[in-house]
Amino acid sequence: MFLTGYWLQVVLSWAVVAFATATVVVAVQKAQLAKDLRDVQDKIDIFEEWNGESRYRTKREDTIDYRLPTALVPTHYELYWHPDLETGSFTGQLRIRIQVVEETNQIILHSYLLNLTSVYVLNREVETFELEEERQFLIITMTEVLPVDATITLGIIFNGQMKDKLVGLYSSTYQNEAGATRTISTTKFEPTYARQAFPCFDEPALKATFAITVVHPSGAYHAVSNMQQTESNYLGDYTEAIFETSVSMSTYLVCIIVSDFASKSTTVKANGIGEDFSMQAYATSHQVDKIDFALEFGAAVTEYYIQYYKVPYPLTKLDMAAIPDFASGAMEHWGLVTYRETALLYDDSYSSTANKQSIAGTLAHEIVHQWFGNLVTMKWWNDIWLNEGFARFMQYKGVNAVHSDWGMIEQFQIVALQPVLVYDAKLSSHPIVQKVETPDEITAIFDTISYEKGGSVIRMLETLVGADKFEEAVTNYLVKYQFNNTETDDFLTEVDALVDDLDVKKLMLTWTEQMGYPVLNVSKVAAGFQITQQRFLSNPVSYEEAPEDSAYGYKWSVPITYTAEDGSEGSLIYDYNEDTVGIAFNADVQWVKLNVHQTGYYRVNYEESLWTLLIQELTSNPDRFDIADRAHLLNDAFALADASQLSYKVPLEMTAYLGQERDFVPWYVAADKLVSLHRSLMFSEGYVSYLSYARTLITGVYEEVGWTVDANNHLKNRLRVSILSAACALGVPDCLEQAAQRFNAFLQNPTSRPAPDLREIVYYYGTKQSTSQSNWEQLFQLFVDEDDASEKLKLMYGLSGVQNSQLLFKFLALAGNESIVRSQDYFTCVQYIAANPVGEPVVWEFYREQWPQLSARFSLNDRNLGRLIAQITANFRSSIKLEEVQQFFEKYPESGAGANSRLVAVETIKYNIEWLARNRADISDWLSGTASPLTKKNQL
Ligand code: BES
Ligand code: ZN
Repeated sequence: MFLTGYWLQVVLSWAVVAFATATVVVAVQKAQLAKDLRDVQDKIDIFEEWNGESRYRTKREDTIDYRLPTALVPTHYELYWHPDLETGSFTGQLRIRIQVVEETNQIILHSYLLNLTSVYVLNREVETFELEEERQFLIITMTEVLPVDATITLGIIFNGQMKDKLVGLYSSTYQNEAGATRTISTTKFEPTYARQAFPCFDEPALKATFAITVVHPSGAYHAVSNMQQTESNYLGDYTEAIFETSVSMSTYLVCIIVSDFASKSTTVKANGIGEDFSMQAYATSHQVDKIDFALEFGAAVTEYYIQYYKVPYPLTKLDMAAIPDFASGAMEHWGLVTYRETALLYDDSYSSTANKQSIAGTLAHEIVHQWFGNLVTMKWWNDIWLNEGFARFMQYKGVNAVHSDWGMIEQFQIVALQPVLVYDAKLSSHPIVQKVETPDEITAIFDTISYEKGGSVIRMLETLVGADKFEEAVTNYLVKYQFNNTETDDFLTEVDALVDDLDVKKLMLTWTEQMGYPVLNVSKVAAGFQITQQRFLSNPVSYEEAPEDSAYGYKWSVPITYTAEDGSEGSLIYDYNEDTVGIAFNADVQWVKLNVHQTGYYRVNYEESLWTLLIQELTSNPDRFDIADRAHLLNDAFALADASQLSYKVPLEMTAYLGQERDFVPWYVAADKLVSLHRSLMFSEGYVSYLSYARTLITGVYEEVGWTVDANNHLKNRLRVSILSAACALGVPDCLEQAAQRFNAFLQNPTSRPAPDLREIVYYYGTKQSTSQSNWEQLFQLFVDEDDASEKLKLMYGLSGVQNSQLLFKFLALAGNESIVRSQDYFTCVQYIAANPVGEPVVWEFYREQWPQLSARFSLNDRNLGRLIAQITANFRSSIKLEEVQQFFEKYPESGAGANSRLVAVETIKYNIEWLARNRADISDWLSGTASPLTKKNQL
């Protein structure tokens, strides 16, 4: 057969090709790196000893060392891949040039789920090779010892499967316009899946150059990879695409795509920092017009980052592609970023204002990584927060630079900071820098602590040292470590170097090395205000259970900022060693507000008389506090009350000011809280009066935003959707009626749909109110037939709103069929159903029944499967439910990447139980004493 002969020829030709020899310099660098790696490990060990073992909850009992030995350092890969789209399998071969830095007779690298047909070392003899499943190692034993400084060339021929997976090298399918199924093939390697596509030294510090060749079907198909294509060899049915050798990079950043996608192109202007380069966006050909927005925004935000970093973009092109099946939201492969379709494709007849913003945010995030992450990479996954936290922080800056009217800077607060403050107020949280080793632990640490807390403490750091110094430190860091690897300390060293009067590193360690955060308690004293700190835990009972396992005793060095009644502003550092700090003021300054713009990662509590003054100010003069500060006051007041550290009447009194509030961000905080309280109180005596209070509160703004989407007012549009969905959730009669009317009109004539911004609300609350099974069936059919990924998700959300548990059960069962709900969307679907109070018990039973099948389908290494348990049980609030959950864990002790999610689930249920016991009486007392909430002000 053609390929057999062809393969033979390739193998033979490779056998005589010698590798180029510009390797000595790289090898020396690599040797240094190997040493650095050992140093890191030593530091971790020392820290662990000093800090006590219990800090690492996920620590295993066994002593298996999952890290590769340090004897060998790869410098160059030559990779030849042939994904066979028809059979769904791939074949490949590679050569790895390896530098020996310590004497050894074994070559140990990663290989997983690959079938190896040939393993050889040029000019040397292999004795045996074996695969070790647990560590995903390929262990090759040589007949002789490899001496230090030798350069060897390892060759391997391999094959593997691409079907039914979303990691490694895998296939993805879609229907073209004619309705025919088309298959493409693509890759997703981060964090530990490169080894499923080619045997490799799959650790981020083992950077090497890659020379990639991809075989693709001739004709409509083509291949793309990280680098530009330099050559194409037509071989009849197949064509070889040969790519330029890459810069030195980590294995997890390698990417190839074989597809029949169409593309569009634009130019990114370097404006004096390096050369201009081209940006292509790829999508299925019938959707190619949906990439215009991404292309325009992508080029603009890249230009911004080039100016910010002041470091040229290191490659000669930056492509992006929308992949029909994609496990994450997006992935920053160097030079070829891949996205879910919903994260890249924008079409104003399908996409909402929120969709548009999220596409921009995702692009901005991945493009940040092209420097921060790709050019400079963490040594090991312990420090993944540096990558992800920095990108999370910078993505807001990037979007803000291009769309300054979107309020991105304040939105960081509501999307990133405030939610993680909830997560991090639990004992099941973990420090930002955490030891991880196994693939399960590694994938699990891509969590809200790494992203949102990471981003938040970086934002706090920027405020502390000033934006200019911060930016300069970033540039210095990128220049100093380009094409290299770092740890947290290296980044902080660069910041520290620009700051004279403060030990930035020492301050930051209190935030990165221990979990949680403080609440600052502020009281008025004769000379001003006095401040103490205490760890903030959301469940009061947790204070007794909290282990004393932190080297900093759960005290933080807090950068405090404040604004006072007299208009003055200031800042100070509250060192973790000090018991208390004070802010001096003369007696006529009555109040102070700490944590200006909520840039600090802490909460602030005041004695009740100070809260009263703050609320008075907020109500009588709301503009005294800007958007960020208003959103902050609301958020802290509710969180403190939820934690029983403040009477619930304080946040409830505060809501009186909402009558005057018309900005998106503060309303988002309030609406979110009003809806979640309605869920918490659903089965308590105060529910009815709560509903009437909440409805009254929201009605004014509801009437003002109305149901007509603005053509060009981003924040007003965001506000509208937030208000309409809260109003519907709270059962404001007019809102429900409007939704139902629009829903019925839509079902009568499905080609005329509501405005994209309104669709989720209309579909969901239309379905929720409909008692007709045929309406649901009709919506389901529209969902099945829908081609646009973002519209499909909106319909899926709508379907989950039905109040009929049989239909929800049916939906859940149908969702298991890959041709109805893609694997990538499965967990979103289950989560939607579970969020519906009628669906919650259905999902809980299904989850327990189907656990063996679910874990077989997705594997325990799937972080989304792992997270599901905390999502399904988030609203459980009885001891019976808690027992059920615990029984389930006993029955299935293996949790894989879901270990932490299980802890979170249990802790959340306990918290919910405690919350009800403590707060429901308080809340209903306040409510029953209220004629109208607006009349209650100043009565604390
Ligand atoms: N590097 C990640 C992708 C990733 C996530 C790889 C988890 C491995 C595990 C990428 O930069 C990312 O953060 N993607 C986000 C979307 C983005 C908008 C934050 C994601 O996939 O959730
Ligand atoms: Zn990222």
